[in-house]
Amino acid sequence: MTRVAHAGVGGWGKNVVRVVGELAELAWICDTDEERLSDYAERYPRAHVTASFDELLADPTVDAVVVATPVPTHHELALKALEAGKHVFVEKPPAMRGEEMEKLVALAEERDLVLMPGHLLLYHPGLRMVKELVDSGALGEVACVYGNRQNLGVIRSNENALWSLGVHDLSVILWLLGEEPSEAVAHGMDYLQKGIEDVVFCFLRFPSGKVAHMHLSWLDPHKMRKMTVVGREKMAVFDDMELERKVTVYEKAPWEPASSYGEWRTRTGDIFSPKIANDEPLKLELQHFLRLLADGPGDHREAHDGLAVVRTLDRLTISLRTGAPA
Ligand SMILES: NC(=O)c1ccc[n+]([C@@H]2O[C@H](COP(=O)([O-])OP(=O)(O)OC[C@H]3O[C@@H](n4cnc5c(N)ncnc54)[C@H](O)[C@@H]3O)[C@@H](O)[C@H]2O)c1
Repeated sequence: MTRVAHAGVGGWGKNVVRVVGELAELAWICDTDEERLSDYAERYPRAHVTASFDELLADPTVDAVVVATPVPTHHELALKALEAGKHVFVEKPPAMRGEEMEKLVALAEERDLVLMPGHLLLYHPGLRMVKELVDSGALGEVACVYGNRQNLGVIRSNENALWSLGVHDLSVILWLLGEEPSEAVAHGMDYLQKGIEDVVFCFLRFPSGKVAHMHLSWLDPHKMRKMTVVGREKMAVFDDMELERKVTVYEKAPWEPASSYGEWRTRTGDIFSPKIANDEPLKLELQHFLRLLADGPGDHREAHDGLAVVRTLDRLTISLRTGAPA
């Protein structure tokens, strides 16, 4: 069985470590918080516990490391783990600058190690369904995609709404469209903490002519986790706040009747919700990581997807700071 060392058992990390423990041999648990560590020592008596990341890296029987620590630590820990010859799963985003992420990807390629960023939504069965609708052409040619990720809180101080929330929607948008933007524009405001934007609006234009938009905010009355894809034939909405109807397909489209050339009408047909499997995205995501460990990193697609996301976040940050398109 694959031996995995896990770092970071905080608010989200506790979910990740649970699933790692279900799917692999949890060899080490690491956290700098002694209280959390002793709690985990009781829960997982067969695992070693440590506050030192270096200690788990020194164990030659560890195959892979999972990093679920705060974002500013990701790059350094992932780099150390790759240098120690370990495969790495690292929560999103693996780095806070494009050049740092490029170095991680280059090292993973050089050593032929798996580097997988935690882009959880790419493993959500609802979004997998939307991807199938896009790739099969069922929606017709896609014109635009937009994401809404709003709520009141959680107010972060390590990262702004773009980096904290946008990384999710951006990973989905780039994956659905299969291209990187030619233009990236972001505007936002830091109402609560200087330099940390609470509300961010982003616009992306792609070489194919498709466009995307993201509304990211932790100062909002609505809790929204929604992605809308507008095709020329049909439109699809993924709504993660819905318990049952996660995906809705609208047979709605513009229509140009042959008899009235140049005059556009609209057509409205059925609205339906396909059945979506109830599988836990985190489990599907970590199963994919373990499959990569068994099969090898191949063309390092996951690492490159992570790089495209960080590179685009970098450009959006430049636009946010300068007020100009990047
Ligand atoms: N995929 C998702 O849907 C999702 C959701 C929430 C958070 N996240 C990501 O998960 C990561 C963790 O988030 P969280 O909410 O659990 O954070 P958190 O602050 O609640 O927990 C972080 C934990 O890491 C520990 N830690 C800090 N530095 C460390 C180090 N150098 N070595 C070992 N342990 C260290 C802290 O003591 C803490 O227990 C973040 O990167 C976040 O972006 C992902």
